[in-house]
Amino acid sequence: MRNGVPLKKMARFMTQVFVLISFLQGVYSQTSGNKSNIGKPGQNLASPPVTLKKIGLNQVVIDNGIIQVTFSNPSGLITGIKYNGINNVLNGKIKNRGYWDVVWYEPEKESQTDFLKGEKFDIINQTTEHVEISFSRTWTITRRGSIAPLNVDKRYIIRSGVSGVHMYAVLERLEGWPEVEMDQTRIVFKLDTTRFDFMAISDNRQKTMPSNADRDINDGVAARLAYKEAVRLKNPQNHMLKGQVDDKYMYSMEDKDNKVHGWISSEQRVGFWMITPSDEFRTCGPIKQDLTSHVGPTVLSMFTSIHYVGKEINTAYASDEPWKKIFGPVFVYLNSGSSSDLLWTDAKRQMAEEVQSWPYDFVKSVDYPLCQQRGTVKGQLFVMDSYKSKSKLNGEFAFVGLALPGQAGSWQTENKGYQFWTRADKMGRFAIANVRPGSYSLYAWVVGFIGDYKYECDIIITPGKKINVGPIVYEPPRNGPTLWEIGVPDRTAAEFNIPDPDPTLFTKLYLNNANPSQDRFRQYGLWNRYSVLYPRKDLVFTTGVSDYKKDWFYAHVNRYSGKEKYQATTWKIVFNLKTVIKTGNYTLRIALASATKADLFVRVNKANSHPIFKTGLIGQDNAIARHGIHGLYRLYSIDVQRKLLRVGDNTVFLTQNRNTSFFTGVMYDYLRLEGPY
Ligand SMILES: *[C@@H]1O[C@H](CO)[C@@H](O)[C@H](O)[C@H]1NC(C)=O
Ligand SMILES: *[C@@H]1O[C@H](CO)[C@@H](O)[C@H](O)[C@H]1NC(C)=O
Ligand SMILES: *[C@@H]1O[C@H](CO)[C@@H](O)[C@H](O)[C@H]1NC(C)=O
Ligand SMILES: *[C@@H]1O[C@H](CO)[C@@H](O)[C@H](O)[C@H]1NC(C)=O
Repeated sequence: MRNGVPLKKMARFMTQVFVLISFLQGVYSQTSGNKSNIGKPGQNLASPPVTLKKIGLNQVVIDNGIIQVTFSNPSGLITGIKYNGINNVLNGKIKNRGYWDVVWYEPEKESQTDFLKGEKFDIINQTTEHVEISFSRTWTITRRGSIAPLNVDKRYIIRSGVSGVHMYAVLERLEGWPEVEMDQTRIVFKLDTTRFDFMAISDNRQKTMPSNADRDINDGVAARLAYKEAVRLKNPQNHMLKGQVDDKYMYSMEDKDNKVHGWISSEQRVGFWMITPSDEFRTCGPIKQDLTSHVGPTVLSMFTSIHYVGKEINTAYASDEPWKKIFGPVFVYLNSGSSSDLLWTDAKRQMAEEVQSWPYDFVKSVDYPLCQQRGTVKGQLFVMDSYKSKSKLNGEFAFVGLALPGQAGSWQTENKGYQFWTRADKMGRFAIANVRPGSYSLYAWVVGFIGDYKYECDIIITPGKKINVGPIVYEPPRNGPTLWEIGVPDRTAAEFNIPDPDPTLFTKLYLNNANPSQDRFRQYGLWNRYSVLYPRKDLVFTTGVSDYKKDWFYAHVNRYSGKEKYQATTWKIVFNLKTVIKTGNYTLRIALASATKADLFVRVNKANSHPIFKTGLIGQDNAIARHGIHGLYRLYSIDVQRKLLRVGDNTVFLTQNRNTSFFTGVMYDYLRLEGPY
């Protein structure tokens, strides 16, 4: 150095300058109104105070200098969100634009939608840093039939320096109230149609969207398609979208991945995001799929629904069945920034911060246990599958979770309690943190193995409790060695042949080159490609020769024979046996990834014989129509008596025997033939 300043000292000085500059940049970005990153979870002393005003008799306005939120009083709908110079990011032309709803009915009665309107307004806490408000209502028998039999407490929290609103609701029914079915619980936001044009739900599922008007089938702008929510855009305002299919179910996601999604206004450079920091209040396990955002512009937080499972879900509440649950908090986050990439990246950053802060320390509800009131469960899962390995295997990346006590696998239709899921590591070690006090069963399943695990004892969590179940062993169903197998036991049909869409019916987003192949199954109309690929003869799979990735169609559907007529189809699995063992049965394992109004018949070696097995009428998950690659998981273990088999070529015939529609059918997860012990 010329001035004799030692190099090291200079470097240290430069580092300090850099740190100072970064610090100042940080301060700047926190206080200037229009930087891309202004929402933060911690309290910011430099931020303006939060104020609450009642306006007239029927409005409450909360303002923190970043956002200003208007609520209808006492119904507690969000009617306005002012942000970044936009007077209202919500659609001011419609009445319901920020609301909760529940779909419910008493047995044998019409289904209704209850908007859970509050009847009483309360301030739960108000400081300059934090306001929590409540809109509540209490059910009485005189209200029977007009509103869902629920006590409702909707809460909203606005904090200083935080660019958004946390929201949750406590729903409760008491013993003796009418029997009721509740099929769906959600939050809905309808955004300003003139501003929000771009939707992002994951790193590779982002696109410029059509408008509601573009979907109008009555004035010929769009064409009706085979499933009611899907349309083909014939004349959209944005001509780049012309010819493409739009369907809200194309934007479904598994709950475990559904943590942030929303819309962007390209012109105003503003993003509106639904952030879900925990899955604990959602139902039916981590791979339950549901809607996210879609045309409207609409942003949803789906808490419960029968989507992708069907009415097997326990949506019925008996008269003598009290129930109470807190849904949320979820976080509606707004940001601004110079590009959609920056807005999405910032929304993900905010999501990560919300996840980190879970359970929140600022929620004031007896129904929301804070961190120290929760417990943990850990252990290590092994798998013992003797015909695969003589020794125990690690439950590599197993799904391990707690849900209400029940049978193995019951979590996938469990809709009333809380669930806590995690993935084990490569060694099968798992730790489930932040578990609410209560009684649970410990469940697991492992990719690569069939069936469901359940730990033999119930798990009782009390505040602060730490449970270590130690090493536990799952023994998947197994009667003998694998003679052949088709697919991977992973509860989806994604590994099979997912065809290209009809060239006139596609969504660009999911074309091969635009998106990794993992999303190919989300295209519209793939069910009907079977009739194109197999116009006369059905699928034949020869073990040891065929490749399930190419030769096993992803869904066992009907063949369309025109004029709304469908043919049942029979798939054949041809396999060779060198010997037929003299004692014991063979076992055919059929794991289904999905079923819709199907009845699967299994025959062996005689095409017209009496089936050795019928599933009976099964399935309402609708995953074929709704582009889900799985619905409810089912495992069948079928005895195949050795007298039915012979040395040489044998055939299993799989007939999906109900030919009622395009969408009737099953998706296989995995098939295997086991020899006798
Ligand atoms: C109200 O919120 C503040 C945080 O801003 C907290 O310190 C205080 O304990 C809360 N008061 C009540 C009564 O919950
Ligand atoms: C921030 O606001 C200034 C003036 O209000 C504007 O010129 C600038 O483009 C804005 N920046 C961003 C990133 O929105
Ligand atoms: C289709 O269903 C109809 C009505 O149930 C039945 O009569 C017909 O035989 C079926 N055809 C095929 C090929 O499955
Ligand atoms: C073989 O399968 C038949 C038909 O399901 C069953 O009745 C029989 O008990 C089985 N035999 C053995 C040894 O499991």
